[in-house]
Amino acid sequence: MRETNKITALDAYPVLKDWICQHHALNGVQPKYYIRTFGCQQNEADSEIMAGILEDVGFLPGDSYETGDLILINTCSVRANAEDRFFGHLGSIKQFAGEKGGRIIGVCGCMMAQDIHRNRIEQSFRFVDFLLRPDQISSLLFMIEKGLIHKSVYYTEGHTSKFHENLPISRQRRYRALISIMYGCNNYCSYCIVPYTRGRERSRHPNDIIQEIMHVAADGIPEILLLGQNVNAWGKDFKDHKQQNFAWLLSKVAEIEGVCRIRFMTSHPKDLSDQLIETIGSIEKIEPHVHLPLQSGSNRILARMNRQYSREQYLEIVSKLRRARPGLSISTDIIVGFPGENLPDFMDTIDVMDKIRFDSAFTFIYSPRIGTPAAEWYNPLNRDIIQERFEHLVKLQNEHSLNANQKLIGHSVEVLCEGISSVDITILSGRTADNRLVNFIPRNMNGTNVFSKQIPVDDREGEFIPVRITDAKTFSLLGEEICH
Ligand code: SAH
Ligand code: SF4
Ligand code: F3S
Repeated sequence: MRETNKITALDAYPVLKDWICQHHALNGVQPKYYIRTFGCQQNEADSEIMAGILEDVGFLPGDSYETGDLILINTCSVRANAEDRFFGHLGSIKQFAGEKGGRIIGVCGCMMAQDIHRNRIEQSFRFVDFLLRPDQISSLLFMIEKGLIHKSVYYTEGHTSKFHENLPISRQRRYRALISIMYGCNNYCSYCIVPYTRGRERSRHPNDIIQEIMHVAADGIPEILLLGQNVNAWGKDFKDHKQQNFAWLLSKVAEIEGVCRIRFMTSHPKDLSDQLIETIGSIEKIEPHVHLPLQSGSNRILARMNRQYSREQYLEIVSKLRRARPGLSISTDIIVGFPGENLPDFMDTIDVMDKIRFDSAFTFIYSPRIGTPAAEWYNPLNRDIIQERFEHLVKLQNEHSLNANQKLIGHSVEVLCEGISSVDITILSGRTADNRLVNFIPRNMNGTNVFSKQIPVDDREGEFIPVRITDAKTFSLLGEEICH
C-alpha cells in the first residue's frame, strides 16, 4: 500500500517514475541513494532533507558510492582543501558512473552556487546528471527528472526557495536533531565565501521551528542543535515581532516537553547580547558551552576581516559569559595567515588564547576564496612563516585543551550516548553537556565489565549515562559508566 503511494507521489516526474520501476523490475529491489556530505552542519541538515525527499518516493539508503544507484555529493567551499577533496571524489566516481541515465549522479551544496565550479563540471565531468544550489534542494525531484532527460549536465537558475518548509526529513541520529533556524549570512567577513553561496539572512518563522522541535521531541530525540551561520542574529529580519530574538527563541525551545539539551551554533560575538548571556546563564537545558569564533586577536586584523568587534570586546563578552554561567566551556575558530598578518598581530592572537584558555579550537590556515575582498590582498610568498605560526598555535591550543580535560579526571558527568565507538566495538561514545567527547566502558546488567569480555557492547544511542572520568586526552575523555 505504502509503495503504491510512493509511486503516485512520483506522477509529476514520469521519467524518474519509469527509472525507479525499471530498476525494481530488473533487480527485484528498490533503488538506493547515497549522499556524501562535506562542510558544516547546515550542509548535513540539507542532506537530511534530501534523504527524506528520496526515501519518500521509494529510495532506500545506501552506504557508499558503489551501493548508490543515485549519488549526491553535497559540497563545501569554505576552504580550498574542501573543494579539492570534492573534485578528487568526483574523479573517482567516474570509473563506475556508466552511461548517463544509468546511475543518477547529482552535485549540490555551496560550490554549486559558484559559476566557476559549475562550469568545470559541465566541461570536464559530463557523466554528472544535474547540479543543485543550496536554495534549490526542495526541487530535488524536479532536478533529477530534468537530469535524466537532458543529454548534458542539467542546471537551472530557477526553482529556488527562501526556506525549506514542510519537507520530509530523514534524521541520521537518534540522539540529536539538527534544526536550521535561519539561512544565509549578512556579515561579509572579508575572507568568507558563505554570504555568496548561501545568500542573505532569512530567519525561519518561530511557529515552524517550534513545531518541528515538538515533533522530534515527541519522537524521543533528546538533544536539539539550533543551526545558523550566526544564530545570534535570528529574528533581526522580522518586521513586526521585535521581541522575538534568539534569547526569546531559546527560552521557548526550553519549554518544549521532551527537549533535554539545547545546543546552538554559530554565535557571532558582535550579536551576543546581554539578554542572551542572561538566558544562557539561567536555563539549565541550554548547554554550558558556547562556540564563539575569535578568528584573530589583533584589532588591526579583526578590522580588515570586517568582524565588527575588538579584542577588548571579545574578552569582555567571555568574562560576562563566565560570570553568568560558571564552568561554561568556550570553543572557537582561529584563522592564521590572514593577508597582512604580521608577527605582532599573531602574538596578539596568542595573547588572547592565553588569557581565555579555550576549551577547544578549530584552527585554519587562511585560504583565499575568489570573489571575496581578502583574496585580492593575498600574498602567497610567506607560506613557511604561516605554517610555523599555525603549528605554534595548534601546539598551544592542544596544551590548553588537554589541561581543560584533565580538570575533569575523577569527576562524574552525564553523557548523552552517541553509540558504539568507531574505533573500539567494546566501548561507547558520547558527549557531556558542555560538548566534550567521552569514550567510556559500559557495565552490563549484572555489573560485570563488558570490556573484559571483548564482545560488542549494546548500542545505547540516545540514552543519558552517568560516567566517571578516569583519564584525559587532548580531544577526548576516558571513563567508566557509574553503577548505582
Ligand atoms: N558562520 C560561522 C562559520 C563560518 S565557516 C562563523 O561565522 O563563525 C567556519 C570557519 O571557517 C570560520 O569561523 C573561519 O574560522 C573559517 N573560515 C572561513 N573562511 C575561511 C577562509 N577563507 N580561510 C580559512 N578559514 C576560513
Ligand atoms: Fe562567514 Fe563571517 Fe558569515 Fe561566519 S559570519 S558565515 S565567517 S561571513
Ligand atoms: Fe561550507 Fe557552505 Fe557550510 S561553504 S562551511 S557548506 S555554509
